[in-house]
Amino acid sequence: MTESHTTGTSAVGEPVAGRAPARSFLEVRDLHVHFPTEDGLVKSVDGLSFQLEKGKTLGIVGESGSGKSVTSLGIMGLHTVGQYGRQKAQLSGEIWLDGQELLSADADSVRRLRGREMAMIFQDPLSALHPYFTIGSQIVEAYRVHHDVDKKTARKRAVELLDRVGIPQPDQRVNSYPHEFSGGMRQRAMIAMSLVNNPELLIADEPTTALDVTVQAQILDLIRDLQKEFGSAVIIITHDLGVVAELADDILVMYGGRCVEYGTAEQVFYEPQHPYTWGLLGSMPRIDRAQSERLIPVKGSPPSLINIPQGCAFNPRCPYADVPKGNVTRTERPELREVSEGHLSACHMDRADRDRIWNEEIAPKL
Ligand SMILES: Nc1ncnc2c1ncn2[C@@H]1O[C@H](COP(=O)(O)OP(=O)(O)OP(=O)(O)O)[C@@H](O)[C@H]1O
Ligand code: SF4
Ligand SMILES: [Mg+2]
Repeated sequence: MTESHTTGTSAVGEPVAGRAPARSFLEVRDLHVHFPTEDGLVKSVDGLSFQLEKGKTLGIVGESGSGKSVTSLGIMGLHTVGQYGRQKAQLSGEIWLDGQELLSADADSVRRLRGREMAMIFQDPLSALHPYFTIGSQIVEAYRVHHDVDKKTARKRAVELLDRVGIPQPDQRVNSYPHEFSGGMRQRAMIAMSLVNNPELLIADEPTTALDVTVQAQILDLIRDLQKEFGSAVIIITHDLGVVAELADDILVMYGGRCVEYGTAEQVFYEPQHPYTWGLLGSMPRIDRAQSERLIPVKGSPPSLINIPQGCAFNPRCPYADVPKGNVTRTERPELREVSEGHLSACHMDRADRDRIWNEEIAPKL
């Protein structure tokens, strides 16, 4: 059985056979994204399932290399272009967006949806903004691809959007080139560009990593306000649980290309059920604590995605690997199981052991 999970009141289980149409606005079922390389098959995403409704935010959290960006590029149909164009990805599973299955759709249909129905904010705005064209002309272009309007109308829309994302003097700054903007302003300009067609799904991949803390907070506030205004479904991808603490309705924790914990933000923050999530919570930056004093850093390095360890992929780094687990052998992979309604975790430990460790050892130190 592959790992899969569903949200809310839906049952946990195998991906639905026979391509039953999705009930949610976005429904990802048993997504695999693998890259054949000379060293072997890189299983960047290995059986991921989740759902998202319009007006809701999902946070996908995990350390570097856990498959977050590959997941978002897979949804956007970008797995064969850009920085990931080196190898053609092998994809399987289902991605339903607004009743349409994208993995089996032809490239043209997906291209039409991209920009209009779904848009992405990248970590590095310079990778999305062309250096030789003004910010305005790029937003105009993005708008006119999907709207049959003259340049003047599109430019008015660009100025409106720049204003909306907090660029001062937008009617003048619309003529600036990307290098004339600061990092925070470029990020805002990219957000303006991604929103120009009112996308119903917005994926923000580490939207604030390169920015200082104050600008980071402003950008996150902006994404939240815009979501309220536009009612879109938003996926925020980050390695820092702190970033999604106030933004996300649901949180999916990824480790080695798979989901290890999924639940509402409240469940994941206040009753986390996976040792990796405990580690992430323990390594969250806190204003009142110096970096060196963070309590539970996740020691060790992420698993190879070519030779994912048998059994639990987190085992080599898990402080609780030796807690007795009945008849379970080390080579048995923990499946995602529901621990309470809508809350899933992939760990062999007994619930009683997990609760004891969380309540007695982890929570008091956070
Ligand atoms: N085209 C490709 N060919 C081979 N391997 C790839 C390719 N694209 C991505 N990968 C591998 O897939 C894994 C997941 O990459 P991904 O970019 O999704 O990680 P991430 O979680 O977004 O990390 P980060 O936080 O650093 O952005 C990495 O090990 C990466 O090297
Ligand atoms: S299954 Fe074992 S090794 Fe894996 S997270 Fe749970 S306790 Fe740790
Ligand atoms: Mg990434």
